[in-house]
Amino acid sequence: MCGIVGYIGEGQAAPIILDGLAKLEYRGYDSAGIAVYDGEQIRIKKSVGRLKILVELTHNGEMLPGNLGIGHTRWATHGAPTDVNSHPHYNAKETIAVVHNGIIENYIKLRNKMESKGYKFVSDTDTEVLAHLLDYYYKGNPLEAITKVMHRVEGSYALGVVFAEHPDRIFAVRKASPLIVGQNSEGCFIASDVPAILKYTRTVYFMENQEVACLQKNKLTFYSADEEVLHKEPVTIEWDAQAAEKGGYEHYMLKEMYEQPKVLEETLRKCISHGDIRIDELKMSESDFRSINKIYIVACGSSYHAGVTGKYVIENIARVSVEVDLASEFRYRNPIIDDKSLVIVISQSGETADSLAAMADMRAKGIKVTGIVNVVGSSIARDADYIMYTWAGPEIAVATTKAYSAQLMALYLFAMKLGKAKGTIDSEVFSGMLEDLKLLPQQVEFLLSNRSKIQKFANRYIGAKSIFFIGRGIDYAISLEGSLKLKEISYIHSEAYAAGELKHGTISLIEEGTLVACVATQEHLYKKTISNMVEVKARGAFVLAVTNEGNYDMEKEADYVIYIPKTNPYFANTLAIIPLQLFGYYVAVGKGCDVDKPRNLAKSVTVE
Ligand code: F6R
Repeated sequence: MCGIVGYIGEGQAAPIILDGLAKLEYRGYDSAGIAVYDGEQIRIKKSVGRLKILVELTHNGEMLPGNLGIGHTRWATHGAPTDVNSHPHYNAKETIAVVHNGIIENYIKLRNKMESKGYKFVSDTDTEVLAHLLDYYYKGNPLEAITKVMHRVEGSYALGVVFAEHPDRIFAVRKASPLIVGQNSEGCFIASDVPAILKYTRTVYFMENQEVACLQKNKLTFYSADEEVLHKEPVTIEWDAQAAEKGGYEHYMLKEMYEQPKVLEETLRKCISHGDIRIDELKMSESDFRSINKIYIVACGSSYHAGVTGKYVIENIARVSVEVDLASEFRYRNPIIDDKSLVIVISQSGETADSLAAMADMRAKGIKVTGIVNVVGSSIARDADYIMYTWAGPEIAVATTKAYSAQLMALYLFAMKLGKAKGTIDSEVFSGMLEDLKLLPQQVEFLLSNRSKIQKFANRYIGAKSIFFIGRGIDYAISLEGSLKLKEISYIHSEAYAAGELKHGTISLIEEGTLVACVATQEHLYKKTISNMVEVKARGAFVLAVTNEGNYDMEKEADYVIYIPKTNPYFANTLAIIPLQLFGYYVAVGKGCDVDKPRNLAKSVTVE
């Protein structure tokens, strides 16, 4: 989604802003722009396409001298990706410039109103209405103009605003769209995400909904929507800038896949102590756990897939009924839910619009929400009743790998803690499971070390039209994620099917040579999955099987077999997903796709 960076201080603004925008490229965008106050006027340059075009156009910012500016990478929602629709947007007099992330839902009404007052629009965007509204309400006091606009727009926004008449300050405001403010001894920054400014400061303020920030060279002031001064505490960012760099790997995605053993280890180190599970930040008491009689897991995309695994694991370990919903469906389906239910919202970014809305809706109804979130200080992390962090560090590649693995680990730990509180697992089983968890990092490492074999296999499929993934139970959940990983970065059509469901229609799509990846890690379902495998093979499919070490009879049925080390069946996802991530990655690399920034996708989906 769109990215915002702003700077005011001793340094030249444009190079700092362009550098920050480059750190936000992972979020996905199709055009970029920058506005700098040059001592006399606000000058804007923008360009459709990659950020490097804007960098070249401005000679890396040198053509836009000035110590104050705002920049933006746009992911088109209203209006095509064109120079005109790119941000920043001006008012007619070019004395106010604004960058915006989010969607103004009542922009048509506001646009009609402004047009009736004689305002002329040059773009198709919802954002331009903000520039004209600010112009309309600006009577010399920028804070007043901003709060008036804030009270009149509906939807989500993170804004950076510059007024030519106040060239010593930048204003920022947000609602349901992320925005942070940073400060160092030489100036202040705004950004959509921490990596954009981490090179310059670790002192960060997370803005709350409808707070306004006024940034000056040496001063930072926060206001409420009623223009009252607020006191806010800064947060110190602990992770280092290197964590968000490629570190010698060809792609962030590959680097992040290779970080999975470390991520799992880190989570275990933080959460296992003296033979027990201790999740410090999760403030749920034993009795909170005991009182849960139903769980709803709500998430989007890969986080939803982690949730599907979570359902099987929690139901089996803790014998609590679990429903898993896509957040975009859940928020509108009016579920029958009572105060003994717990909603778990899973989100890497903690900013996904549908997940946030589902959470807000549940909390408004008095239902407790636990957030499983990777980004510390994100909206879900701050608003959830209980929080459980996944310790994956910053994930830059759009296609998630390490954050997904960390979500699985969080769900295993949650299930075991719940099972223990409910008395559904005895201490021996519990200890055995802990031992299995501790082995996962090295097992993942081993699977990653086999990557060249998978690369060779993947190269055979760069021309594939369609690839299917099948499995039952947890293996179905693994298939969902394996299929998404492949299709989102390689643009090859792919579907995941519950293996038993295939013959109810989809099997007609199997042709001679179609690749079907069969996941068969669940021993109690093994024979059933084999029979589904045989069905597709009989129709010409080429079968890739992912199964447990020791299931060597698989070689009689499948054309190519990948073995995963033995583990507790509930944890098999963590291992089986590794070859599937590598497969998707290498198919995409083989096709020459932009692996880290797949077309049309955004890392943080902050619009509905
Ligand atoms: C796919 C992927 C997405 C996200 C989804 C939810 O690789 O990363 O499907 O999982 O957009 O995002 P979060 O987890 O940030 O809520």
